[in-house]
Amino acid sequence: MTSPDPPAPGSPPAGSGTVYLVGAGPGDPELLTVKAERLLRRCDALVYDSLVPRALLDLVPPGCERHFVGKRRGHHSVPQPSTNAVLVDLAGRHRCIVRLKGGDPFLFGRGGEEAAHLAAQGVPVEVVPGVTAGIAAPAYAGIPVTHRSAGSSVTFVTGHEEIDKQRPGVDWRGLARSSDGLVIYMGLHNLHRIAEELLAGGLAADTPAAVIQQGTVQGQRLLLSPLAELAERAEAAGFASPSIVVVGEVVAQRVSACSPTPAAVEMPIPF
Ligand SMILES: C[S@@+](CC[C@H](N)C(=O)[O-])C[C@H]1O[C@@H](n2cnc3c(N)ncnc32)[C@H](O)[C@@H]1O
Repeated sequence: MTSPDPPAPGSPPAGSGTVYLVGAGPGDPELLTVKAERLLRRCDALVYDSLVPRALLDLVPPGCERHFVGKRRGHHSVPQPSTNAVLVDLAGRHRCIVRLKGGDPFLFGRGGEEAAHLAAQGVPVEVVPGVTAGIAAPAYAGIPVTHRSAGSSVTFVTGHEEIDKQRPGVDWRGLARSSDGLVIYMGLHNLHRIAEELLAGGLAADTPAAVIQQGTVQGQRLLLSPLAELAERAEAAGFASPSIVVVGEVVAQRVSACSPTPAAVEMPIPF
């Protein structure tokens, strides 16, 4: 008896299902895309983390195998290699696997790493973009991230040092000179340092700035402040994660009348 041919390099393992890297949006469940909803309603397995709106978990079929890979209270997040291993294992046992991530999976979501790992293992993988918090949270506060007369460029940037450790740090002074607007993710804890760097890079002390906490959901909070006072005011007012920081003249273009009412659902706070 002859044994079956080994799979060609890069070809899916026998019977491999497809992993969909799906953006869950920023919190308001109504900001889920139609494609994401269709996949959630038919998936055989779901892998999700902390910032995923809990209301979306109810969309999956009753028999769906669920895995939480986010941070639990008092623990670190599940290490990335373990999440990768879970995804490969599920792909060997199911046809449709949804890897659900807050906002957009390819924007500060490590979706690129997961996609590369799955592809290298020969597992079919597809990305489904989502509405990112960096656009939605300012929008729910009435702030456009670009504006014809106040901002022709915008930079999405991480304020999280651990991520930056892998590479040279973010050039905040350079960004102060080169980008009209900044949308800063995970920047709250380093806000004093970030603001100092931006001021040293040439931004005026009265540059309009904002912090939006829990954008698009119940408890959404907004702080408007000149850049020089932003960090101190955010601290004094007890702003916490998850928050988006916006810096630039676009903040002064805020139209409060256009802000939607945040959804009446709780933000799954990262522990
Ligand atoms: C790991 S990043 C994930 C970003 C996500 N992939 C996206 O596209 O929105 C997590 C950070 O996104 C921001 N964030 C996510 N959801 C938010 C929300 N509803 N309101 C404010 N900031 C939010 C915060 O800066 C938070 O620390």
